[in-house]
Amino acid sequence: MGAISLEELGLDPDMVSDPFLGALKLRLRDSRIKYMRIYEDNSLTFGLFCFPAGATIPLHNHPGMTVFSRLLFGRLRVSAYDWLVQPPAPIVAGAAAARMVCNAVVDHASDPLVLFPASGGNLHEFVAETPCAVLDLLTPPYEPPERNCTYYRVQRPPLTWPVGGPGGRKVPGSRAPAVGDVVELEVFEPPDSFEVVSGLYPGDPVT
Ligand SMILES: [Fe+2]
Repeated sequence: MGAISLEELGLDPDMVSDPFLGALKLRLRDSRIKYMRIYEDNSLTFGLFCFPAGATIPLHNHPGMTVFSRLLFGRLRVSAYDWLVQPPAPIVAGAAAARMVCNAVVDHASDPLVLFPASGGNLHEFVAETPCAVLDLLTPPYEPPERNCTYYRVQRPPLTWPVGGPGGRKVPGSRAPAVGDVVELEVFEPPDSFEVVSGLYPGDPVT
């Protein structure tokens, strides 16, 4: 993953120094993420996710899968969790405890990330701080119903009232999670604003 060049993928090396130029060249519009499939067979899925600035892939799982991700240009915040107790089957309803294992901004100089079925941050969220592109390899691929993608969010405790009751100022019940924190993750339906459209892979073919 680390050795593949931008040129081989049909991308312009200038995108590293100017991610906004990258967004223009990749024709990224509004908040939609573009996915370009590079190669797929029974054992793996290999593709390219291209993000406009601010776009988010909500927290989701990769049940029984190993995933390699490499940031090619731009900056991307990666937040990742592992279940505190590995469930025998994917959690598709309700909530369960998970520990945050990663909360970092990666760029083109970062090593490729790898996550495993029960470690390394099997559940992750991507937030694009600038336009960016991620090379993504999943093995084995998603294959519903047994290897389906489920979305989650951190369950927030209810807002609490300061002394003085509801006439007082509302204060948040919690701070943002940090690495090492244990939180409850609940299943949720991603918002309509989350949209991934497909694009044509411009690089060298993989066979
Ligand atoms: Fe993912």
